[in-house]
Amino acid sequence: MAGNWKMYKTPAETTAFFEKFRPLVEKSEHCEIVICPPFTNLAAAVIAAQGSPIRVGAQNIAWAKEGAFTGEISGAMIVATGATYAIVGHSERRQYFGETDATVLKRTEAALAAGLTPIVCVGERLEERESGNTEAVLVRQFQDGIAGLSDAQFAGIVIAYEPVWAIGTGKTATPEIAADAHRVIRHEVRAKFGKEAADAVRILYGGSVKPDNVKTLMAQPEIDGSLVGGASLDAVSFAAIVNF
Ligand code: PGA
Repeated sequence: MAGNWKMYKTPAETTAFFEKFRPLVEKSEHCEIVICPPFTNLAAAVIAAQGSPIRVGAQNIAWAKEGAFTGEISGAMIVATGATYAIVGHSERRQYFGETDATVLKRTEAALAAGLTPIVCVGERLEERESGNTEAVLVRQFQDGIAGLSDAQFAGIVIAYEPVWAIGTGKTATPEIAADAHRVIRHEVRAKFGKEAADAVRILYGGSVKPDNVKTLMAQPEIDGSLVGGASLDAVSFAAIVNF
């Protein structure tokens, strides 16, 4: 269960969140818990999570190791904070910051090279779904992105299916719609990386996951976890999702 805080919270607010959140998930051993705050809060989050099973992740990662890349943060810099995950290719990065399938692949490789677990996002836009192109878009994002990894690299990633029309809109994909998309992705994984990899890979669903819909989503065997935006900002609500 991963929380993506997007561009919310300061370091002090991060510490306050963890004080409230930690006791609520202390006994939650059924899943891994990851919080992805803005870069500037990674160190505060790692300190606040110390001694708990909660892991910390970045929301993006540079594809280069270092260099003249103003505004970028490298894998080594993220690792130095103590974070262990990085979201890659979130639809908001694709939509507003020019992220492409090719750069998603490069960032995924950089995360793996740094020893981080990338959470690689795919998902169709509303017009793509309405024009019947959901499957084609997911296949393209997979083929032009994730499929460029080696078998060993693939074993180190988590995939997130995030239909763009469901993100921050309050419109959740029905569990059946989400499961259908997960099946398409898993089918691609099987064709490229084999059955074992397809069975083992974790595919998270993201898009308006809330305490009151998480149970039915997680009841789908295809859905292995959630990537939660808005509802992860509040300790009580994210704990309710973790403890569904
Ligand atoms: P949301 O965001 O839960 O606010 O819809 C999900 C995400 O973008 O990861």
